[in-house]
Amino acid sequence: MPVLVSFWGKGGVGKTTISSAFALRLAQKGFRVYLISTDFVPSLSDVLDVDLSDGPKEVSRGLIVEQLTEEKIVELWKERFGEEVYRVASSIFPVDREIIDYVARAPGIVEEFTLYYVWHRFSTMNVDVVVWDTMATGGGIRMLRIEKEFYDHLGEAAKLYLKVKGVLDKIRRGESEPLVLIESWRRLAEDVFSFLRSKEHRAVLVSRPLRIDLNVARKIYAELKDTGIPLKALIVNMVSNQNKDILLSFEEEFKSKLGLITIPQRDSSPLGLDALSQLFSPEVWNMLQELVLFS
Ligand SMILES: Nc1ncnc2c1ncn2[C@@H]1O[C@H](COP(=O)(O)OP(=O)(O)O)[C@@H](O)[C@H]1O
Ligand SMILES: [Mg+2]
Repeated sequence: MPVLVSFWGKGGVGKTTISSAFALRLAQKGFRVYLISTDFVPSLSDVLDVDLSDGPKEVSRGLIVEQLTEEKIVELWKERFGEEVYRVASSIFPVDREIIDYVARAPGIVEEFTLYYVWHRFSTMNVDVVVWDTMATGGGIRMLRIEKEFYDHLGEAAKLYLKVKGVLDKIRRGESEPLVLIESWRRLAEDVFSFLRSKEHRAVLVSRPLRIDLNVARKIYAELKDTGIPLKALIVNMVSNQNKDILLSFEEEFKSKLGLITIPQRDSSPLGLDALSQLFSPEVWNMLQELVLFS
């Protein structure tokens, strides 16, 4: 303790529902829990049936939740990195402060900073468990790749410009700030990345018993493995009598690799705290707890 439990999968499989139910159940058991959703198609507020527009909120005893929006992450990024980016950029080119907005909107910045933000929350929140509802597949996986490469590329590119411009000499004469900053960004990215690979992080893959979702699950499984993320369980959500045969394919493929848990299809969407607290049967809860908290 503390640990980070993250839920991965394509849109619509039940990530937000399951993350919320998991976080709520933990809080009901007496853990202090922080639930953060970084899916930029926000649904946490609908799933929990509480208004989250004013920022992080304690929705139930011991459970604080936060819905991150794209706008908010851009603002936070500017606060944290804007000035540094301006300092590095303006030492290379004659630019004004508009460069900060320009960089903040560059592809990949939002995804990249989302990781930093989750890590930051994890390091600073005084809770037992942080539950992370990740963005839908594409963004999530892309985010991991970007995290791996972003600062390296940025660093190399900036170093090249510095060389080309002869600024390196100037820096060697004592004004070393840009390189120091770039180096600190790189170290930050490394810290975030090694945290995601650490044993404090437990990832859970969520899928549905559909042929097409099996393919996606296979892909995410490979990506997370490649990245070195500790994947603990696969939840097949919305199982019914009609899709038992595909469940067999899931079992064949994944049972030897990680803990497999099934959740039945409910007659109606599990919305609100009461419905969510009943999503997991006692058996499912025990398995999930065993796999992600105690293994
Ligand atoms: N076990 C279930 N039974 C019935 N409906 C479910 C179940 N799990 C999720 N849902 C519903 O499926 C939809 C998608 O779930 P959601 O958690 O928003 O998925 P995601 O976050 O992966 O996009 C929502 O309407 C949700 O209420
Ligand atoms: Mg969602």
